[in-house]
Formats: sequence, structure tokens, C-alpha cells
Amino acid sequence: MSEHSALSAAEQDRERRMAWWHEATFGMFIHWGLYSLIGRHEWVMEMEGIPVAEYEKLTARFRPKPNAARDWAQLARRAGMKYMVMTTKHHEGFCHFDSQYTDYCAPRVCGRDLVAEYVEAARAEGLRVGFYHSLMDWHHPDGARCAEDEEARKRFVQYIHGQVRELCSNYGTLDILWYDVPWPLEAEGWESERMNAMVRELQPEIIINNRSRVPEDFDTPEQHTTASGAGRHWESCMTMNDSWGYHITDDAWKSPKQCLRNLITCARDGGNYLLNIGPKPDGSVPEESVRILTAVGEWMDRNGETIHGADLCAVKRCRFGNFTRRGNTLYCHLHFWPGSEWGLGGLRTRVLSARLRATGQPVAFDQNDFRVRFSGLPADPPEEPISVLELECEEPPTQDMEHVRRNMPRGSG
Ligand code: GLC
Repeated sequence: MSEHSALSAAEQDRERRMAWWHEATFGMFIHWGLYSLIGRHEWVMEMEGIPVAEYEKLTARFRPKPNAARDWAQLARRAGMKYMVMTTKHHEGFCHFDSQYTDYCAPRVCGRDLVAEYVEAARAEGLRVGFYHSLMDWHHPDGARCAEDEEARKRFVQYIHGQVRELCSNYGTLDILWYDVPWPLEAEGWESERMNAMVRELQPEIIINNRSRVPEDFDTPEQHTTASGAGRHWESCMTMNDSWGYHITDDAWKSPKQCLRNLITCARDGGNYLLNIGPKPDGSVPEESVRILTAVGEWMDRNGETIHGADLCAVKRCRFGNFTRRGNTLYCHLHFWPGSEWGLGGLRTRVLSARLRATGQPVAFDQNDFRVRFSGLPADPPEEPISVLELECEEPPTQDMEHVRRNMPRGSG
């Protein structure tokens, strides 16, 4: 491929490994742990200063319902998501998998390897599998002192590397490794290069995020959809309300429309969108999250092809719509419907045809150097929550608003 000729062998390998991920575009994040039992955000242990001995008692009540992960995986697939990333250990230190390094893990607490159940459920729905693993640990005795005490650092690095080895060895092919919060060490202290070389030896096709303090395969903008710089892959991770873990009274839910708008922005700018659920202690998904993802999925059923595998899109400017592109096709995602007429300013490419995706109905238009003007559109949005106008263009469409401002003929004064 000529566009790859300037890339190094390592970069070419990265592009190859990440092809499925780009095509996938949309994934489900799952934050689940002992904190779910308290229901006041996944940071509750630190935020409320709960002592380890008191927090550990939660294990007595952690008894998830059978096969909870199947519901997550089905919900994800129906929402148009193509992969999942589950917390194997969050900052609280409790592990959902079988670890020889600690008894603070689900198999010893409730007799189940919840990571194994999750992996099986994801695969059954044809979804790719990712593991989130927090480096920071509020439970492990060396979790803080490792910064000042070299013996503690060595032990803790052995602990974390050992767990990462277990995760990469015991669950078959793993698609994504998603580290989090490297406090209190730097890459050198974590021996991140060595850790990730081990990961790649065990899982040659895996993709790794940037939170072990080395850039690896992709960046992780959190709670926003800003694209990374050129040459960097990126995935925006986002909560559906304001918490990652289950929070009983957090009612700051995004609308399905807002979730879709974020997804569209990611797809437009070459990124992925990892949208979170925070299951209840028994593993069931909060009703509101089910409602939101179901609505998202209904839209994705009809419009998924405007999202999955979208190309970078140079058309971005509209006050009530957004855009994605596939080859010469421009998808205008109108989240606030304009009514019977609409103008797209600054398009520098000739439009050959226009139609409403919802109905297939052709749309009349005329084009000059400054705008494409559409007329005879339905007064009401043909589709909720976002209607898509599909434009076939002569070339990959570009937009130049500067051209409009500078060159549009002014009045006579
Ligand atoms: C943060 C938070 C955390 C959450 C994560 C997701 O770093 O500490 O609770 O898991 O972001 O990106």
C-alpha cells in the first residue's frame, strides 16, 4: 500500500493490528467492582476515606447473579458496539479473575471467575474482548510505598506484571489491554516497556492503550471527544451519567441523542467511542443505561454504516449537524432538524445526488461556489433522534468556511 510506504515496519504492524478496531469504532466499557455495592461512584473508598478492613467486608455481600455478563454483551451488540472492555481490577484492588497473587478476588469470594464469564459472553455475541487493569491499587500493601521503598516497588511490580501475565495467558486471545492510573510510579518504575513486551509476546495481535506511561497503540481522551494529533490512534472513553461505577442517585444521564452525537464526532475524526455502563452489585445493568443503549441501537441498526469504518471527514462546520464520510459519500447528521430548507456552506466538492437515509427520498438541491442549498425537505425530522442526509459527491468532500467569508460578494455599502 503506497500510503504505508513511508511507515516503519513497526508502524505498519500497528496499522494492521488496529484495522478491526477502526472499523469497530464503538465499544462498551464496564466498571464493576465492590464499589458497586456501596453505589456512590467507583472512587468511594478513597473519596470517603474508608479503611481497607472495613471495605474488605463488602466481599461478604458480593454475590452476582448468574451470567450477568451475557446481558451486557447482548446489550452491547444490539447497541451497535463491536467490542467490550471490562475492569479486571479497579483502584480498589479487588480482582474479578483468578489470581495466584491474591485472595482478594472473585473466585475466592464467590466461587466464580467473572472475567472468564465476561470473555465467554463477549465472544458468544461476536464481540472483541478488552481488559482494563488499574496499576494504582488502594488495597495492596505496596500500592503507595512502592514510590519510596525499592523493595516494595520490586514486589509490587512483580504483583502487577504477574497479574498482567495471568490475564494474557488464561483467557485465550485478548484484543485490548487498557491500563489505568499509573500513580505513584513512572514508566521506569513500572518497568512498562518490559511489561508490554511480555504482553506482546503472549498476545501478538493485542492493542495496548497509553496509560502505562508509554504511548503504545492508542490515546485515551477521557470524557471528551478531542482527536489526538496526527499519527496517533485515539479512543474517547465516556460515562453515560457522571460516574463510571454504579452510583444509585447519579441522574445526570446523557440522552441517546447526546451519546450518538459524541459517537459521530469520534467517527468523523478517526477515533473510537468507548461508552460506559456501571452495573449494579448483582451485575444487572441500570435501567436508564438499558433505555439509552436500546435507543442508540435502534438508530445504529439503520445508520451503522455511516459510523463503522468511516473515513476521516474534512467537513465539520454546521451549527446543528455533524458529518461522517465514506469515500465520496458525505453523511450529514442533522441533530436539530432545519425544516423544509437547509444550506451547507463552504463545500468545495460538487454534489452529484442527495437523499434522505430514513426514506430513501431524493432531495432537490442547487449548488454554487458558496453553498449547496437543499429544498423540499420534510418539515419535521424524518428520523429520531438524528436524521441523516446522504450526499454523493464527485470527490472526497472538503469544506472551506474561510472561502465563504472572504470571497462572498459584499453589498454596495
Ligand atoms: C479515571 C478514573 C477511573 C476510571 C477511568 C476511566 O482515570 O480514575 O475511575 O476508571 O478514568 O477512563
